[in-house]
Amino acid sequence: MSIALVILAAGKGTRMESDLPKVLHKIGGAPMLHHAMQAGSSLSPERIIVVAGHGAEAVTKAAQDYDPDCTAVIQSEQNGTGHAVDQAREALADFEGDVIVLYGDTPFISHETLEDMAVARSRADIVVLGFEAADPARYGRLVAEGDRLDKIVEYKDASEAERAITLCNSGVIAADRKTLFELIGKIGNDNASGEYYLTDIVGLAREDGLTATVVTCPEAETLGINSRAELARAEAIFQTRARAELTGNGVTMQAPNTVFLSFDTTIGRDAEIEPNVVFGPGVTVESGARIRAFSHLEGAHVSRGAVVGPYARLRPGAELAEDVHVGNFVEIKNAYLGEGAKANHLSYIGDADIGEAANIGAGTITCNYDGVFKHRTEIGARAFIGSNTMLVAPVRVGDEALTGSGSVITADVPDGALALGRARQETKTGYGRKLMDMLRAKKRKLTEGAS
Ligand code: UD1
Ligand code: CA
Repeated sequence: MSIALVILAAGKGTRMESDLPKVLHKIGGAPMLHHAMQAGSSLSPERIIVVAGHGAEAVTKAAQDYDPDCTAVIQSEQNGTGHAVDQAREALADFEGDVIVLYGDTPFISHETLEDMAVARSRADIVVLGFEAADPARYGRLVAEGDRLDKIVEYKDASEAERAITLCNSGVIAADRKTLFELIGKIGNDNASGEYYLTDIVGLAREDGLTATVVTCPEAETLGINSRAELARAEAIFQTRARAELTGNGVTMQAPNTVFLSFDTTIGRDAEIEPNVVFGPGVTVESGARIRAFSHLEGAHVSRGAVVGPYARLRPGAELAEDVHVGNFVEIKNAYLGEGAKANHLSYIGDADIGEAANIGAGTITCNYDGVFKHRTEIGARAFIGSNTMLVAPVRVGDEALTGSGSVITADVPDGALALGRARQETKTGYGRKLMDMLRAKKRKLTEGAS
C-alpha cells in the first residue's frame, strides 16, 4: 500500500512566546518538524506534504532540509485541522493510496504505532490514533464502542457525559486519499470554535456507512508541544530515550543523566562517556574511544582508542584518528589529527593537519585568522611543537621537525629542522639581587616619609 504523509505545521504556537515558528524549535538539536518527519519515515512514504502557514518560508526550508523531495503547501489562514489537510488536496490529486495525517508539533509517535495503524486500515476505512489520557483536559474525545469508532467530539463541543470519556484523540488519522478528501469536502464550521475540524470526518464517514476504528498507543507518544515548559519536557524524554539506546548498545556512561545527546549522535560499543559531556549535532565516536568529563563536541569524529578531555572542546570538522589524545582546555576546529598525535594541554588547533604521532606542546596556538581570511597550518609526522608556540598560518612544520618553546613560527620549517623564533635570553650575573636591594630601599624611604 502506497502511503502519503500530511504533516500539519501551520499553527502559530502562540504559547511558545517566540518569533520562531513552533515546529522549528529544537529537540535533541533538530527541529521538532524533523522528528515528526522521522517518525513517519518508518512507513516509507511515497510523498510527504508539509502544511506550512506561520513562518512558511522557514518551515518549508526546514522540511526540505530533511527531505528535498517533500512538498510544502501553504495554509494562509488557520481555519482548523480539516482546512489544513484540505490544502494538500491538489498536491495529492493523482495519488493512489493511504494518507496519514501527523502533527509537526507531536514528535514522539513511534514506528510501531504507525505500523499498527497501517495494519488496522485493512479492517476499517478510517483509523484514528487514540490514547488513554491520565488527564483528558481539553483533548478531543473518542466516542467508541469496543473496536468501532462512532465520532470524535472536541472538548469545547462535548456534553458532560462525553467529557467523562478518557479515550482521547492524538490527532493522527489514516484513510484512503479519495475517501479522506471527499469527507473533508463535507466538513462545516458550525461549532464552538468556528473551525473546520478534521475530526468531523469520523462522524461523516459513519453516516455514509463507512467504518472507523481506533488504534491506541501510550500517552507519552502523543505529547504535543505548545509551550517552552512542554518543549523542555520533550527534550527530557528525548534525552532519556537516547541515553537508554546508547547504554543498550554497549556504551558505558557512569552518569547517563548528565550526558546530553543530539538526534544523530553515534557512539560505538565499548566507548566510555564520563559525566557531564555535551554532544551537539554531527558527532561520531567509534568503539573503545573515551570522552572524559566536561567535554563539548559538535560536528566531530573520534576514532577508536582516542581519548578526549577532560574539559576538551571539539568543534565542527574536528577529525581525530586512532589513539589521538586531546587533553584539558584544548579546542579543535576543522582540523585532522593523525594517528597517535597528542595535544594534551591548553591549545587552539584550527584549520590544521597534524601528522601521526606529532606532539603539540601546552599553550600551542594556530594563528589561523588574519582578520579577513582563514589559513591552514600543516604539521608533519612525529613533529614536536614546543610549549607556547604560535604558528602563524599559512605555515608548515615538517616531519620530525621541532619548534622551541615560546616560538612565533612565521616561515615553513623543513623536515627534521629545529626552529627557534624567540628573543635570545640575556643573563646578567648578580643583577637580580642588586635590583631587589634597590627596590627595598625605595620602599623604606617611602614609608619613612609617610610617618
Ligand atoms: C487537535 C484535535 C483534538 C486532539 C488534539 C491533540 C481537531 C479539531 N482537534 O486539537 O481532537 O485531541 O489535536 O493534540 O483536530 N494546525 C494547522 N492549521 C490549522 C489548525 C491547526 O496547521 O488551521 C496544526 C497545528 O499547528 C498543530 C495541529 O494542527 O500542529 C493541531 O492543531 P491544534 O490547534 O493544536 O489542535 P487542538 O485544538 O489541540
Ligand atoms: Ca494542540
